[in-house]
Amino acid sequence: MKSPIPDYLIGVLDKASQINDGNPASYIEVLARADTTKSAVALATVDGSLYTAGDDRVEFSIQSISKAFVYALAIYDRGLDGVLAKIGVEPSGSPFNEFSIEKGRGHRPLNPLINLGAIMAHSLVKGNSPEERVERIRAILSKLAGRQLHVDESVYEAEIQTAYRNMGLAFMLKAAGVLECDPEHAVQGYVRQCAINVNVRDLAMMAATLANGGTHPVSGESIIPSDSVRQVLSVMTTCGMYDAAGDWVSNVGIPAKSGVSGGIIGALPGQIGLATFSPKVDNHGNSVRGVAMCQQLSTDLGLHMMDINQIARATVRQCLTTITTGEGPVGVPIFDLRGAVRFGGAELLTRTVARELSEPSEEPGSGCNADCPVVIFSLRETISLNTVAQAILRENIRRLRLDGKRVDLIDPNGVLDITQLLPEDQPTVFNSVEQALKRIGGLGYRVVTEYHS
Ligand code: DON
Repeated sequence: MKSPIPDYLIGVLDKASQINDGNPASYIEVLARADTTKSAVALATVDGSLYTAGDDRVEFSIQSISKAFVYALAIYDRGLDGVLAKIGVEPSGSPFNEFSIEKGRGHRPLNPLINLGAIMAHSLVKGNSPEERVERIRAILSKLAGRQLHVDESVYEAEIQTAYRNMGLAFMLKAAGVLECDPEHAVQGYVRQCAINVNVRDLAMMAATLANGGTHPVSGESIIPSDSVRQVLSVMTTCGMYDAAGDWVSNVGIPAKSGVSGGIIGALPGQIGLATFSPKVDNHGNSVRGVAMCQQLSTDLGLHMMDINQIARATVRQCLTTITTGEGPVGVPIFDLRGAVRFGGAELLTRTVARELSEPSEEPGSGCNADCPVVIFSLRETISLNTVAQAILRENIRRLRLDGKRVDLIDPNGVLDITQLLPEDQPTVFNSVEQALKRIGGLGYRVVTEYHS
């Protein structure tokens, strides 16, 4: 069977091609002459699959999309506190080339994705010269793309010739005592970073690396630390589309970054990276067709980060088996936890266990298994336990052991890390409920009704 996804992407491209608003960026002469018939879209999954449609190998300068990755690199080189001391995280609500600086409080640029903040972020990248900084940036972008990327000298020359506004921004930062390096060098390096050529295949994989917590979906290399990724995606969400960020978050709902040559990337944590290209941009500097394609992808594929179905749901299913002890038959609850479990799922499990094993009260179902000597947790269908879910589950086990309960764990895939528990608190681990019940039988209990999943 041929995957339907590439054909779907062709449809997305065709629909957007009917939109004729916008114009190529006029202030950079090479961009002003862009071939506006070129367009492309690409999706990359966090496990490395790439789907494309259109002119997916046509190259264009990365422009402001580079800002998101250079922000990550600056954090790597200077630490988050070091970068926050120099650059804020607040959306400016103004065009990307405005002098959007904090009043007082050290004169920080409002955020790293407008030109003022991006020039600052560029200057924080390690390097004793513009060339060294640019090479470091080119190398990291190439690693993220999975191939060697290069500066388009024609774009660089065209932009640096008329970079008066960016020079003005840099000199103002220097005058405010924020920029440490030579302002001209900062702008030269920043403009070269923006002139690095990419295609949508590169950008989709770069975005998927962000969606994958900084680990490259194909190479498996951890390129960006995961805590930096969270910072970058947060700022992309609120600032990535400049003074159109509010519309974008409402209508598309994916952390994104645009570039004035017509590229857009979106990165949905844990799911996909996407990239679009079409040179005609609106007055915010965002690709008109690109925004339309992203909105359609978000709607059709359910990618909006606020869609409740995005929240990985966990469920708790509870079964009972009965054993006979000296006092007669008692129920043994088997709590079956399913799905990608985060705080919500772990809290639901804890509430269920506490209700059933506590002393009887007016609450329906309370105390119904208070006298059981054994509790079984089944993680056979648990996809994942995040850090807080791991901690809550281990604490549940520790407290049940303190209450004198035997705790058995069905965890054939080793989802729960029990080594964090003291040896005396660690549950006995089995691959199946049947194995656990056989063990219980071996302890002198008679299993009255066999468990059936
Ligand atoms: O500094 C500039 O104006 C360009 N090198 C980048 C601007 C840009 O990409 C705006 N984003 N859409």
